[in-house]
Amino acid sequence: MRFLATMAAVLALSAGGAQAVETIKFSHVVADNTPKGQAALKFKERAEALLPGEVEVEVYPNSQLFGDAKEMEALALGDVQMIAPSLSKFDRFTKKLQVFDLPFLFDDIQAVDRFQSSEVGQGLLTELEDMGFIGLAYWHNGMKQLSAKQPLIEPKDAEGLKFRVQNSDVLVAQFQAVGAVPQKMAFAEVYQALQVGTVDGQENTWSNSFSQKYQEVQSDFTISNHGLVDYAVVVNAEWWNGLSDEVRAGLTTALEEATALNNEIAEKLNQDARAKIAESNGVTIHELTPEQRAAWVEAMQPVWKQFEEDIGADLIEAAASANQS
Ligand code: LMR
Repeated sequence: MRFLATMAAVLALSAGGAQAVETIKFSHVVADNTPKGQAALKFKERAEALLPGEVEVEVYPNSQLFGDAKEMEALALGDVQMIAPSLSKFDRFTKKLQVFDLPFLFDDIQAVDRFQSSEVGQGLLTELEDMGFIGLAYWHNGMKQLSAKQPLIEPKDAEGLKFRVQNSDVLVAQFQAVGAVPQKMAFAEVYQALQVGTVDGQENTWSNSFSQKYQEVQSDFTISNHGLVDYAVVVNAEWWNGLSDEVRAGLTTALEEATALNNEIAEKLNQDARAKIAESNGVTIHELTPEQRAAWVEAMQPVWKQFEEDIGADLIEAAASANQS
């Protein structure tokens, strides 16, 4: 009798416990040793510490669960609870976030930070509401660099070369502006595409390039800092609003801590990755002279006008003004 009573108590407890635990699937496409990879793990650690027995966070890196093509759909359907796509990937849903893709818009990540923290920058996160999403935070990765199987010093060096781009029309226009042939492609496919020659080059941050081993299939990197890879941490609004106040508050704190860590380590991870790429066999990293850089700026500048109507001249102006601190 006593055994049965104990069993019944255990079963009741585990049933109750199972109901109470909120499982949060956080899916992303990059490696753990990147700013986003580290921040997602920090979020897990802090959320589970702040809400013991109440939440369990499962982090799925490297497109393991969902890749670029599917992660937003999965969030809309409730198959995952959190994602952090690069801002370029919202192109299909809102034109305004395309501002972040304009070439040579931001001088550095500090300018990006100032813009994102401003009222206008924070307001952009609400653009995602029409999709049934809530944008909870921006996370930095950093500035993009160009790479190929040959030196890219002047814009004409890119002519006729095929470049992988994220799913963004601004990025397509950016490469067309220098006579290159852009090709939209999911992140998980890029290494192989570079290896077999489906594309000749790509653009990404040092940490993304190094963690994907692009240095094995690209001989030349150019320090161009011509664009940005940053993220919006996004949740499904219905799911988020359905959480208890206590759980939502705990997750908000965990996210603030993960955001702080992300933004603290992003630059260092990128510089470490740059150093490792520089040490790789057969790889050259090119620095541009101010004149060479100015030629890239000039060649890509028409893209701003091309997208001014979609994005809004005021928004472009607000973002550009973040360069003057
Ligand atoms: C890419 O597709 O190049 C990046 O957006 C990947 C990422 O999430 O950093």
